[in-house]
Formats: sequence, C-alpha cells, structure tokens
Amino acid sequence: MKITVVGTGYVGLVSGTCLAEVGNDVLCLDVDPEKIRILEEGGIPIFEPGLQEMVRRNVAAGRLHFTTDVDKAVDFGTIQFIAVGTPPDEDGSADLQYVLAAARNIGKRMTDYKVIVDKSTVPVGTADKVNAAVADELKKRGVEIPYAVVSNPEFLKEGAAVEDFMRPDRIVVGAEDDRAIHLMRALYAPFQRNHERLIVMDVKSAELTKYAANAMLATRISFMNELANLAEKLGADIEAVRQGIGSDPRIGYHFLYPGCGYGGSCFPKDVKALIQTAKDDAGMTLQVLTAVEAANDHQKHVLTTKIKARFGGDLKGRRFAVWGLAFKPNTDDMREAPSRELIADLFAAGASVRAYDPVAMHETQRIFGDEPRLAYAENPMDALQDVDALVIVTEWKEFRSPDFEAIKARLKTPVIFDGRNLYDPKLVRDSGLEYNPIGRP
Ligand SMILES: NC(=O)c1ccc[n+]([C@@H]2O[C@H](COP(=O)([O-])OP(=O)(O)OC[C@H]3O[C@@H](n4cnc5c(N)ncnc54)[C@H](O)[C@@H]3O)[C@@H](O)[C@H]2O)c1
Repeated sequence: MKITVVGTGYVGLVSGTCLAEVGNDVLCLDVDPEKIRILEEGGIPIFEPGLQEMVRRNVAAGRLHFTTDVDKAVDFGTIQFIAVGTPPDEDGSADLQYVLAAARNIGKRMTDYKVIVDKSTVPVGTADKVNAAVADELKKRGVEIPYAVVSNPEFLKEGAAVEDFMRPDRIVVGAEDDRAIHLMRALYAPFQRNHERLIVMDVKSAELTKYAANAMLATRISFMNELANLAEKLGADIEAVRQGIGSDPRIGYHFLYPGCGYGGSCFPKDVKALIQTAKDDAGMTLQVLTAVEAANDHQKHVLTTKIKARFGGDLKGRRFAVWGLAFKPNTDDMREAPSRELIADLFAAGASVRAYDPVAMHETQRIFGDEPRLAYAENPMDALQDVDALVIVTEWKEFRSPDFEAIKARLKTPVIFDGRNLYDPKLVRDSGLEYNPIGRP
C-alpha cells in the first residue's frame, strides 16, 4: 500500500518505518527541514531503541522516503496518516492547529480517494473538524472527491515504540466508512497474524479511548505516589504494599511504581486536555483527574523537599549529582521530565548540578542552554565529583546495581535521594550511606 505519514516525530517516524518494514511504500512528510535532512543523510533525529537500523534497512530497500514537499506527500498515499503534535494550548486543551493545517493541506491538493487517519492524540470531535476542513477546501476548489476520516489513536510507548508498533496489544479504529475500515484491516493484518487485535468502533469512542487509557495510567501513578507519601509518614513500606496489592489480579503489578512524578509528552498533556474537554464540551468537572494532576504537580517536588529537609532550605554553595534526566528510561525525551523541575528547584535554592544521562544530555543542553550551574558528566561515577549528594531521577538500567562503597567514597556527604526506589535500603545503608527513597521507612 502507498502511505503518507504527515509529521515525522516519535509517532510518525516509528509508524512510517514499521509500516515500511512489512512491505508498504511509505513517504514521511515534515515541515521541519532539519529533521528531514538528518533522515535523508542516514541519521535519526530522536533516540528510540532499534529504530535507526530499521530506518536504514527500509530506506535501502526503497520503501521508506522523506520529504518536506507537501504536494508530493498528498499525491503519494491513499492512506494519509496525520501524526503531528497536539501540544497543550494556554487553557490546557489540545492545540489542533497542526492537525487542521495538515487536513487542509490534503483537502487543497487531493485528486483521488483518500483515507485520512488521525493518529495524533486528539479530543473527541476532532475527526468532525478534520472532515469539515477537508470538505471546505474541496468546496473552495469546486470539486467533489470521495474521502474518509478515521480515528486510529497510537498506543506506543517511547523507549519500546518499535516493539509496541510491531506487536500491538490492540489497534483501535474509529470509522464509519466500510471502504476505509476494509483498508485499515488490510493495513494492520501483518501486525496481528497471531490473533485479531483490531477493535472497530465509532469515531468518538476511538478518540476518547486514547485519553481514557492515558488518564487511567496517570491515575495509577498518582494514586501510588500519594499512598507512598502516606506510608512514609505512617512508617509503612510502599514497596511491600505494592506487592501486596499487585498480587490481586483485578489490580495487577503493572504501573504501580511510586516515584517522583510522571512526565513525558503524553500523560501531563492528555490529562489536562481531557479535563478541559469535559469542562468546555460537557460542562463537567472531572474530579478524579483534577486530583491526579494536582498530586503529580506536588510529587515532582518531593525530592526537593527531602533534600531541603536534610541540608536546609538554603542550598547556596551546594552541588548535587543527578542521575537520569529523560522523563523515563530508553528515551531522550525531556518533555515535562521531573528532572527539569528538580533542577529548577535546586537552582532556585542556590545549588548547582552535575548531571548524567545515557542519551538525554544533548536534549537537556538544548533546553537549559549555556547554564553555568549545570555541568554534564561522562558517566555515572564522574557525576559524583565534588558533589554533596546523589539524586536519582530516572530508572536507567545502568543505575540499578552501582558500587555503593565507591559512591560513598566520592560523595562529600554520603547521602542518596532515590526518586525511583531502585535499591534495597538495607544494602545501601550497610554500605554506610544515608538512603532516602520514596515511601519507605
Ligand atoms: N510520543 C509518544 O509517545 C506518543 C504516543 C502516542 C501518541 N502520541 C501523540 O502523537 C502525536 C505526535 O506526537 P509526537 O511525540 O510524535 O510529536 P513530535 O513533536 O515528536 O512530532 C510531531 C512532528 O510533526 C511535525 N509537523 C507539525 N505540523 C506539521 C505539518 N503541517 N505537516 C507536516 N509535519 C508537521 C513537527 O515538525 C514534528 O516533527 C501527538 O498528538 C501525541 O500526543 C505520542
């Protein structure tokens, strides 16, 4: 099949590449010429495990192409995926300007049947708006060309995106047009040979499904974080509690890890957008999600609170090692990362930071610029040079089993603040280190 992917970011590049991997002809469009230049020169603009080799393989096979040329992109695919960003507007609602610009671009140029697929995370009712934008452009041209608008939200996880796309748990397709449903079934057949995972539903339900999924996951995290803070005050151990409740199959072990808050490009923005949709379109206050968001805002400062409790409110002249900058392991994505709030808090209290992350340091540098209070280390142990204490923010595998004796020898004060509960407290404390995890006595 000939497929155009509009927007070559995390979702667009992974989707386009995986669709090429199973034999489709794919053209990825982006308005950012720098991204397209990097891709055309054989690089990739993001870090995502396994993606670079897959891009190279499919480019070499002649199935995957990149362009900034909108005419070419609209002409190319019968299926036009829209995978552009939907960042939060000032009031928290999803900003649809990029989605609607992409839709208008298609309407302005299409000459034959197109299936226009919303893959971006978009509020309920967006497919109607995309439909109206395309219809409006066709009307201006005085032409009638058949097309269908489909909602096909993406559930991939950054850090495991290729695997998630190639072996999806489910594929949600919101559509009413039989021809479009047939094409979507054919398109996704290679990804579900073992058993059918495609769920067809009405468009609005598909749009809401994506928000419901992210809102549920964010809720589990905020719930555990709040209980962790309570456990700490009561002298209970949240890790024991986690195992105790996770063993109930109605609850399950997944996504029950307490920590220093959720971040990333999806949960914070999608929770906000759903709250706003409820307010604007249904006159409803989503009380649970409002609390989820407030709990998360609080949790992003929990490490700072612990640091100040240990070293005092004035951190002038102090320096802290930070292990992990990306919002989660296996990605260089820094959007809404808890590390950003922590670093800002430390700066505000007068401290400086020596940071290490396996892949997100260049992205951090782009965000913080030439910030003199922020230095970058070459490896985890190098980050401990001349610092007062160690703060762990992202649970990269390489942080899981460090040499505690060596850490103790390097730190000015032998203290670890662990925002991800990576270690056995007894083991750390037996090495002569003070250990401050989340929600543990
Ligand atoms: N990142 C994730 O893990 C993830 C997972 C599921 C769903 N989503 C959703 O998918 C969408 C895209 O997310 P992302 O993380 O890939 O964003 P991104 O910012 O990485 O990529 C979006 C790309 O779209 C390009 N773009 C903007 N307007 C364009 C236009 N008119 N024509 C062509 N290109 C255009 C931008 O230059 C950018 O490269 C969002 O709605 C997001 O919520 C993201």
